[in-house]
Amino acid sequence: MTESSFFDLRTTLNLLERKGELTHVTGEVDWDVELGVVTREVMRRNGPALLFENIKGYHHSGARCTRLAASILGSFRRIALVLGFEEDTPYNTMVEYVLEHNAKLIPPVMVDSGAVQEHVLTGNQINLYDFPVPRWHHLDGGRYIGTMGCVVTKDPDTKRVNVGIYRSMIVDECRMAALLGGTQGWGLIFAKYKERGEPMPVAFVFGWDPIMEFIAGTPVPPEICEYDVMGGYRGAPAPLIKCKTVDLEVPASAEIVIEGSVSPDPATYAMEGPFGEYSGYVADVPAKRPVIQVSAITHRNDPIFRGTLEGALPGTCGENSYLTSIQRAAIARRIMRNAGISGVLQTYVHPITKGTSIVVQIKKQYEGQPKQIAAALWGDRSSMYQNKIVIVVDEDIDPSDYEAVDWAINYRIDPGSDDLVIFRGIVGSALDPGSPPENRLVAELGAGIWNRLLIDATKTWRFPRRAEWNNQKFPPVSTNRPADIERVKSKWSSYRFTNWKTEF
Ligand SMILES: Cc1cc2nc3c(=O)[nH]c(=O)nc-3n(C[C@H](O)[C@H](O)[C@H](O)COP(=O)(O)O)c2cc1C
Repeated sequence: MTESSFFDLRTTLNLLERKGELTHVTGEVDWDVELGVVTREVMRRNGPALLFENIKGYHHSGARCTRLAASILGSFRRIALVLGFEEDTPYNTMVEYVLEHNAKLIPPVMVDSGAVQEHVLTGNQINLYDFPVPRWHHLDGGRYIGTMGCVVTKDPDTKRVNVGIYRSMIVDECRMAALLGGTQGWGLIFAKYKERGEPMPVAFVFGWDPIMEFIAGTPVPPEICEYDVMGGYRGAPAPLIKCKTVDLEVPASAEIVIEGSVSPDPATYAMEGPFGEYSGYVADVPAKRPVIQVSAITHRNDPIFRGTLEGALPGTCGENSYLTSIQRAAIARRIMRNAGISGVLQTYVHPITKGTSIVVQIKKQYEGQPKQIAAALWGDRSSMYQNKIVIVVDEDIDPSDYEAVDWAINYRIDPGSDDLVIFRGIVGSALDPGSPPENRLVAELGAGIWNRLLIDATKTWRFPRRAEWNNQKFPPVSTNRPADIERVKSKWSSYRFTNWKTEF
């Protein structure tokens, strides 16, 4: 195999272990709901990544797969490690790095053999229930196999490969049903197969270098192949191997690959959903959805299954939240840079919002700048499921500090003015429980519809200058002068506070 700086899942787990960022769950855990509850409770405690090693029904001798890895990208610390940084690397450093590396492309290289094909299962050897797939949440409609599986498809015309993460549920031993969104990368490719009346080949990759998940969960522009972006991050071509039953390529040292095809014939569709979705709600109504007919499963010796608990709830953000936060902040910077908007200092996506809202910190250069920023973000394809709420703040507001942002919203806006702008009827998420049902009818509308909001929490330039305000348009803030603070600091011990000990 080509030597490269790509890791496999096992190397990643070793790295996390050395850094105290991995725990082995050695006691028995039921795949049915319990595994999801354990994962959320560990998330609530800002705990480490999880390797479940004793899953009910999957620890007998002869079991094909006994282990499941989760929460690998479930904190900024672990994302820093996966990106090659120290674990305490600042958010903005990672955003700058990602902004630069999303544009670096190194095409993959084909290799002849790889550990992922140490076992090749076809025909009646195929059984999806051989893998410890959780029913993550008690309201889920079934066992969700595709939660952190990277889905590989190929454009039949251009041959460009797309890699994305999309949910899928086990239907039976050899079928999975999926929410195949028409505006997503594989949805655009599926539309071409539909027109041809042909099934779409597909490969689900579980467990490899987590850079794959970091990129697959991100809207790379349709003309760019995610494998090329992964190469750019690792500074080397991704070593890929040909699938056994479909014309697709997958990482040679992945843990598990499921190969198959999706028929465009609605008669083949099966019920899918509901699912504890990214929003933290079970907002979807089950429906008949496209089915992946599995043609082969390949895997390493003693494979490790990879999954993730979806659904951000206050205090329990997961992998999608953290990777989306860094990526969305970087993508917003790229959009504004491409639009020629200067003065953007920082962008911050709070993990709980998964990019549904974004805070943009600017050194304001003209009054209409926040509107220009919102228009640029909303006009970009990558905002399809993101940037419902855009908040723009001045340079004195730390965009990652909710209190500071709230202070700016409270005292720098006039809700009766165009500090608040609602842009109605633009494409958006169909999974947002806050949207009225009629805006979520993908079958009729082609995609969800959002009404989006800009909160321009910058100081307005419309007020007249006033002598009392040091000839500025906005009143001064009642912070203390540095010299006054220094004077108090030098006298601090002389105040002899009672019942309270503190250093200045
Ligand atoms: C853990 C995780 C789960 C995701 N689940 C879904 C999903 O079920 N459906 C979906 O359309 N997008 C899902 N996404 C978001 C897509 O992966 C993301 O929009 C990505 O840009 C898709 O790639 P594409 O732009 O090539 O379509 C998920 C992302 C992550 C990280």
